[in-house]
Amino acid sequence: MMSKILVTGGAGYIGSHTIVDLIENGFEVISIDNFSASSSSVLDGIKKITGKVVTNYPIDLTNFSDTHKVFTENKDIAGVIHFAAFKAVGESVEQPLVYYNNNLTSLINVLKCVKEFNIKHFVFSSSCTVYGNPDTVCVTEDTPQKSAESPYGVTKQMGERIIEDYLKTSKIGNAVLLRYFNPVGAHPSAQIGELPIGNPTNLIPAITQTAIGKLPKMFVHGNDYDTRDGSCLRDYIHVCDIANAHTLALQYLTNCKNTSNCEIFNLGSGTGITVFEAIKTFETTTQQQLNYEIGPRRKGDVVAIYANNNLAKEKLGWQIKYCLNDMMQTAWQWQLHLQS
Ligand code: WQD
Repeated sequence: MMSKILVTGGAGYIGSHTIVDLIENGFEVISIDNFSASSSSVLDGIKKITGKVVTNYPIDLTNFSDTHKVFTENKDIAGVIHFAAFKAVGESVEQPLVYYNNNLTSLINVLKCVKEFNIKHFVFSSSCTVYGNPDTVCVTEDTPQKSAESPYGVTKQMGERIIEDYLKTSKIGNAVLLRYFNPVGAHPSAQIGELPIGNPTNLIPAITQTAIGKLPKMFVHGNDYDTRDGSCLRDYIHVCDIANAHTLALQYLTNCKNTSNCEIFNLGSGTGITVFEAIKTFETTTQQQLNYEIGPRRKGDVVAIYANNNLAKEKLGWQIKYCLNDMMQTAWQWQLHLQS
């Protein structure tokens, strides 16, 4: 009997890639996504890759009764992976109340249903933004959290705390919190990928949209930081590697391998790359010349951070399969597919 997993935000960038990985690993999947930051075409892409039609409930998770209805109609949900959230760092600085309401009310509504329907396994989409501007650039899961640089980061810090406090009251629940670094790239089939709504805020879609001519040029947000070349340093990790980590996290819980009822894992490549190095790698890998200028710093940006990812490798058995060139190449192939 296949275990049924509910993925919230299933039409999103990481949610859709995770659904593909779950299906390929024998899980039955249903999704909740109101397409506020995604498109129903993503579900077509999932079908093209897996041959499966994923049932999606287009409801708003900030509405408790609509959320509750999904759980009453699916009493056999074995686990929940909660992605649904707004996630643009810069946008969250401009619209904090929208971010707090959407990201936290959705999480609380889902947790209320997880509790009511006695669902044992919960995987949460967290983020390296919980570390703020860390004192040490390479962070482990135990690195003390500084104050988050953006309301988006605060919603992830609060989200982790809400889950931890809920689990203290639960006799059966257990959770894995996955702190993503910078997910980039696209599925090798080029049938699913990152779908920014409006102008891209993230670096890689900004690069690919500029390279293909959808944007006339892009700006490097600051070149006067205290890093090896003055631009911000991040840990880029292929979205398919991130997706597989979710399947492994679920199996870690369903196979009772967890040593406590709430465990945290960094999901990063373990390598720090600057904005200029990312641009150079893109140009070399795809043979495209990028039109960019140096612009002002962006509010909410962390200067430099990358992951110590040993815990995920040791305890989840996570193996990173994609390199930086793959990230750039698959992102570019996806951009070309979008234009076709
Ligand atoms: C990366 C670097 C920008 C665009 C992301 C996600 C967030 C979280 C953490 C998962 C920064 C610079 C960008 C551009 C630029 N991930 N940049 N020009 O801010 O690290 O956050 O990873 O939870 O959800 O958004 O990623 O891609 O926006 O920026 O110079 O046009 O690229 O200033 O230094 P960020 P990003």
